[in-house]
Amino acid sequence: MKKIILSLGLGLVVLPMLVWRSRAQEASYDQPWRPQYHFTPPKKFMNDPNGTVFYKGEYHLFYQYNPEGNVWGHMSWGHAVSTDLVHWQNLPIALHEDPGQYMVYSGSAVVDWDNTSGLCKNPDPQDHSCLVAVYTGAYKERQKQHIAFSNDRGRTWTNYSGNPVADLDAPDFRDPNVFWYARQHKWVMVTVLADERTLVILDSPDLKHWTKRSTFGPAGDVAGQWECPDLIELPVEGTNEKKWVLIINRNPGAPAGGTGVRYVIGKFDGANFASEVPDVPVLWADWGKDFYATNTWNDMPPIDGRVVWIGWFSNWQYANTEPTVLWRGAQSIPRTLMLRRYADGLRLVQRPVNELESLRHEKLHIMNASIAKVNQKLRDAGAKGEVYEFEAEFRPGQAEDIGFRLRKGKEVETLVGFDAVHSEVYVDRTRSGEVSFSKDFPGRHATRVEQNARVTLHVFLDRSSVEVFVNDGERVLSERIYPPPGSDVIELYANGPAAKVVSLTVWELASTWK
Ligand code: FRU
Repeated sequence: MKKIILSLGLGLVVLPMLVWRSRAQEASYDQPWRPQYHFTPPKKFMNDPNGTVFYKGEYHLFYQYNPEGNVWGHMSWGHAVSTDLVHWQNLPIALHEDPGQYMVYSGSAVVDWDNTSGLCKNPDPQDHSCLVAVYTGAYKERQKQHIAFSNDRGRTWTNYSGNPVADLDAPDFRDPNVFWYARQHKWVMVTVLADERTLVILDSPDLKHWTKRSTFGPAGDVAGQWECPDLIELPVEGTNEKKWVLIINRNPGAPAGGTGVRYVIGKFDGANFASEVPDVPVLWADWGKDFYATNTWNDMPPIDGRVVWIGWFSNWQYANTEPTVLWRGAQSIPRTLMLRRYADGLRLVQRPVNELESLRHEKLHIMNASIAKVNQKLRDAGAKGEVYEFEAEFRPGQAEDIGFRLRKGKEVETLVGFDAVHSEVYVDRTRSGEVSFSKDFPGRHATRVEQNARVTLHVFLDRSSVEVFVNDGERVLSERIYPPPGSDVIELYANGPAAKVVSLTVWELASTWK
């Protein structure tokens, strides 16, 4: 939280310089820098996704929200719903701060199918269920876990009169993530003592009474905070096996700098989590700078068996000063999670959810072509713009470097490339437009890949964002960019001979906010 207050100060200083931009921005979703298929708040400041849960045909997305300003503060839960994880409908604020008492920090939501809490008053006699949200009441000196319930599909919420439901008398006990542990017929909550880098596991028969069962950590971190933990069971690709994965959001200390998402593969017996290997390796979910505070959907329709998460598309190093004015903050695209076996062990793999394919308008599909040929075809197809998806397989040949120039304009460009010499995929946003709002923003952020003869890049461009899925989700880089309007050229580059585009498909994507 220290970082937040520092950045908050900076935000107030920078804000007046940015006021001119507000004239160009209307209170609509069609503004420069406003993503067209990512979730952004209707107005004001947003950070973490919260309470992601599927219930009665709707995916709920709650989020850390400041209804009063453009920087972090007055934390409440904003709310939106979707039937496809792609088109979102904004709803009124679900949970408000209690001014002078507590703010509503991050947390999760569950469906209490069998009314274990006794809080469900469903008018339908066949249906005993309701939604229960579990969040941190952030008091001045202490952080405690609260619950609230909704008997109308999340439209209105009531705080439980017996709050708090979990209290360790600590200033940094936060971010409860709750799920139903069917094997022992009980609720499990993972939370953190953030400054101690410690996970706390509790359980409950009814969501109201919680018992602390164990702790885990610190493990692999000697500095920073742990925030927004999650404990999920993931399938191992191509097998019937499943493994428990602990998600730790780490603030700061990520590979690209600032905040990032770690994970630990291990075992869970309903009360204790243990790493599979004694020397806990520090594994990262995303190698860009802007993916944090993840939340996985609870109660996903069992038929598709997917585990899907979403992350806040920012970084605490500069979240309060990003150069948008009427709204600030975005969420990533939702991604399906699994584990894949590599030579050095199991690794987390992420894929964009299939539902995004409904937005595609194909512009170009080309196989076995040179860079010059592809660039000609891109021009012929009129493939320029700010809202695009690309799927490419590159064979660098003798080229040292091959990739995309996106949102290119006068003296601006964002590079998404493969450095074959160092076997790295990178996003370079040093010249991506407005970068001066934070010294921590400009930069080239990279991730190593296993082999360098070929690489596949699946890239999502959305006005002010780039997400790159490398080799079918083996690595991901998520980055925000702020190019001036009109910088819309898309082209490929290669430094060196014999570079080949094995295949490339280019889609323009429709806006979900029209
Ligand atoms: C993570 C975080 C959480 C906290 C929330 C407050 O970004 O710091 O630990 O609950 O944001 O907005």
